[in-house]
Amino acid sequence: MKRKKTKIKKKTIVILLIVFIFLFLLNPVVSIMKIKSKGYSLSNSYEIYKLGLKEEIIDKDYSETFEKIFKTEYYEEKYFDNYFEINYKDSKDFNKNINTWLILGYKPEIINKIYDINDSKLNEKISEKYIPDILSYLDYSYFKVDNLDRYLAYFNGDYSDTIIKVNIGLDKKYYEDPVIVTEYSTSMIVNKYNQLEDKYVPKDITELTKCSSSGEYLAKEAKEAYDELCDASKKAGLNLGVTSSYRSYENQKEVYNTYLKQKGKDYVEKYVALPGYSEHQTGLALDVKSTTSSPFKYTKESKWMEENAYKYGFILRYPEGMEEITGYNAESWHYRYVGKDIAKYIYENKITYDEYYAIFM
Ligand code: DAL
Ligand code: ZN
Repeated sequence: MKRKKTKIKKKTIVILLIVFIFLFLLNPVVSIMKIKSKGYSLSNSYEIYKLGLKEEIIDKDYSETFEKIFKTEYYEEKYFDNYFEINYKDSKDFNKNINTWLILGYKPEIINKIYDINDSKLNEKISEKYIPDILSYLDYSYFKVDNLDRYLAYFNGDYSDTIIKVNIGLDKKYYEDPVIVTEYSTSMIVNKYNQLEDKYVPKDITELTKCSSSGEYLAKEAKEAYDELCDASKKAGLNLGVTSSYRSYENQKEVYNTYLKQKGKDYVEKYVALPGYSEHQTGLALDVKSTTSSPFKYTKESKWMEENAYKYGFILRYPEGMEEITGYNAESWHYRYVGKDIAKYIYENKITYDEYYAIFM
């Protein structure tokens, strides 16, 4: 009897031992399966379990970013929560970049936006230093990553205004570091920051035949637009003429030197372009006059031009109050051909061509 009792006891112990061992093994298996059910691969679920991250992982939705980074040298436990807020992008250096950016202080929201933009130059810039307000710049379609350091240095409290002004070049001194214009079109810009080569001559220079005297030339498209404008002005009973139109580099040099001698440095800085920096060399600009009265600013021709020139593709290039932007004092007589669409936009939005170019080109 006693022997039988001992035998039962022994059997119970063995069973309990087996159950215990079974449960001991089962527990990790259950945990690993729970991790796997979140979406992680089986082997990664096992690794995650080994790191002791079971509870944290089970509490959260699946994160591909976490799964891709947690076994690499770029994983840092202190950014654990951040990985779950960063959208995974299958791109080179993703792990390295997000690690660099998190260390610099970028929040997941910013990292996601930067990755959406997908610009390797921007990624490089962001990796150099922490720019807390980077998203405010990125809101603008005319943001140019190449100008980022200049925006930061020039910032005036208004992101859009800063971007436009730096895009124009206003953070630099005139003629300091000019862009050489190489794309010749009716929308090219020539100003104190954008220079034409000495030898540039518009290829289809054409003599004006209407509302002008002989020896005046414009690029063909501008000439034809001026013909239309001239016809309309005549219908309105006006007397338009031209004082200057296409000027070669050499002509501009003469004009510049003549004014310099006659009126001095202060005057030419405000009214006359240095050779190479004049719109007159593009064959797209002309100075108009009234053949019956002056000064032009107070004539009915001037008023009509201000209100109607855009319909034919011309804009008043140096408006009053815009001297800081254009670099020139107001010139009521200087019109520039840019084509009808651009001219209409500029007229309706009361902006300068420099601003238009900084925004759209
Ligand atoms: N008067 C304009 C600025 C020019 O010389 O081109
Ligand atoms: Zn002019």
